Amino acid sequence: MKIGIGNDHTAVDLKNEIIKHLEEKGYEVINYGTDSTERFDYPVAGYKVGKAVANKNVDLGITICGTGIGISLAANKVKGVRAAVVSEPYSAKLTRQHNNANIISFGSRVVGSELAKMIVDEFLNAEFEGGRHQRRVDMITEIEETNKLEGAD
Ligand code: RB5
Repeated sequence: MKIGIGNDHTAVDLKNEIIKHLEEKGYEVINYGTDSTERFDYPVAGYKVGKAVANKNVDLGITICGTGIGISLAANKVKGVRAAVVSEPYSAKLTRQHNNANIISFGSRVVGSELAKMIVDEFLNAEFEGGRHQRRVDMITEIEETNKLEGAD
């Protein structure tokens, strides 16, 4: 499985720990983030990971900034992206199973590296359950594509 990872200046060390963790498990990881601690605009990395996921250059994405929020907002602006910000493993697993999230996002100033590895593992090991969840994910896509939602206006 190929994973795209992106980060801003707050998350260089954490990003490198996650890459090492994933490579040891046999994942191929493509780095779309900065490797410098100089200030870096998180939308750039969020956009790059979002595009890589939407274009299927990678299977899933990981985005990390100080809170995980700004970079996820940027990634979510790319059509086809469902980026979820989490700070614990349970939500990381459920957002794959129920929301078919294709990017997991967290904050370098929020979670420590061991918790971050657990978050990533739960996310990557889970599978979308489909069924009743598919209909709801389709509704999210309908909003994305039409700026409307049948029956809700
Ligand atoms: C950078 O200071 C910080 O704003 C950024 O890492 C992130 O937390 C934004 O959402």
